[in-house]
Amino acid sequence: MDKLIVRGQKRLCGEVSISGAKNAAVAVIPAAIMANGVSVIENLPGIEDVSCLCHTIEKIGGKYEYIDKHTLRIDATGPLETCATFEEVQRMRASYYFLGALLARYKKAEVALPGGCNFGVRPIDLHLKGFRALGATVIEGDGVVKAYADKLVGTSIYMDQVSVGATINIMLAAAMAEGVTTIENAAKEPHVVDTANYLNMMGAKIKGAGTDVIRIHGVKELHGAQYAIIPDQIEAGTYMIAAAITGGDVLVKNIIPKHMDSLTAKLDEMNVSIEEHDDSIRVCADQALHCANVKTMSYPGFPTDLQPQIVALLSCCEGKSVITENVWDNRFQYVDELRKLGAKVEVDGRVATIQGTEQLHGAKVKATDLRAGAAMVLAALAAEGETEIDGVKYIDRGYEDIEHKLGNLGAEIRREPIEE
Ligand code: UD1
Repeated sequence: MDKLIVRGQKRLCGEVSISGAKNAAVAVIPAAIMANGVSVIENLPGIEDVSCLCHTIEKIGGKYEYIDKHTLRIDATGPLETCATFEEVQRMRASYYFLGALLARYKKAEVALPGGCNFGVRPIDLHLKGFRALGATVIEGDGVVKAYADKLVGTSIYMDQVSVGATINIMLAAAMAEGVTTIENAAKEPHVVDTANYLNMMGAKIKGAGTDVIRIHGVKELHGAQYAIIPDQIEAGTYMIAAAITGGDVLVKNIIPKHMDSLTAKLDEMNVSIEEHDDSIRVCADQALHCANVKTMSYPGFPTDLQPQIVALLSCCEGKSVITENVWDNRFQYVDELRKLGAKVEVDGRVATIQGTEQLHGAKVKATDLRAGAAMVLAALAAEGETEIDGVKYIDRGYEDIEHKLGNLGAEIRREPIEE
């Protein structure tokens, strides 16, 4: 187990290149097993979740090989096991995509219930409701979900709540169902679109991804495909906030600026200068920053996965800011840790009120989950003195080479093993 040690108050300057999107990768990799063939996936982030999914594919009888650090060859030539209940599967939440993928190809799947970051109840009822609507029998028990069907038949599915995971999982299953499936009130996140694009390259017929109605004409078979993952919206946002919180000047490269609109608008409102280019954004914070109110929403709203990071930034801005968390019911657990660095944050249910403080100070803190961990790093970059961040395994689930990328921008940050 490692810790990160950050000596703060260094102004970040220079360029940082953003990796492939974690939340797209964790859907596209399981989707690769839907083809009786070989896929080559490019621009994958070098993160723990990707390794975990590769091991899962190997354990159910597929093969994987790294062509280079960010390119993976997945050979899903069958037959594959349809039972995935081992430890790797339990470790990460996105393993629920194996349910949709195996159900599509083999019409049966047995997968352990998801783990992952804990920020409140994380049900998968909408995923299962969708599989049932397609004609599958779904049984839950002993931490495992079993789903099977003689055949899946396309239907119309209205999502009670906008859910990224359920939209993607239903899209996977429906891609190989008989007839047409319509998903209404679908999630519009960039990784939903990315997964649909990959499936279409494999021979699926999916239209409307990125809008709230997705229409899927089921096909009998899919073939392997070569595909490059989109850049990570949340990693990009984290580095944009890193520039802002250190009063820095950073060019965030290899991104899709449109995906960043909700954050760019907010940073602009806070008095940060933003320059947009074709595939990069320059963030320059050379003036005092204003407080702001933020409400998290599904895409294209402000992402919940940038909520802890923006709270860290607002903790350093003069005045009072109010943050409303509309997606998860318990995503302010990290605030106790942020307070150890001097942040003044009060939480009442889904609303946090932040009173900006002039100076955060270094302390020993924990990453309580992936994005909370990113918020600790950001606060530490602004703090006076040294901060020690424990629980780096969470941060490694979603950020490739974080200490090197920040180090190249001028941060004083190092990784050390924790002595037992
Ligand atoms: C994905 C992201 C996660 C992000 C979240 C919201 C991945 C791997 N993870 O998670 O980082 O925070 O989107 O943008 O892409 N819900 C139900 N029933 C369900 C499913 C969801 O009630 O069956 C609720 C959840 O409790 C939550 C809301 O819907 O309140 C949104 O969840 P969802 O979009 O499904 O999140 P994930 O796909 O798990």
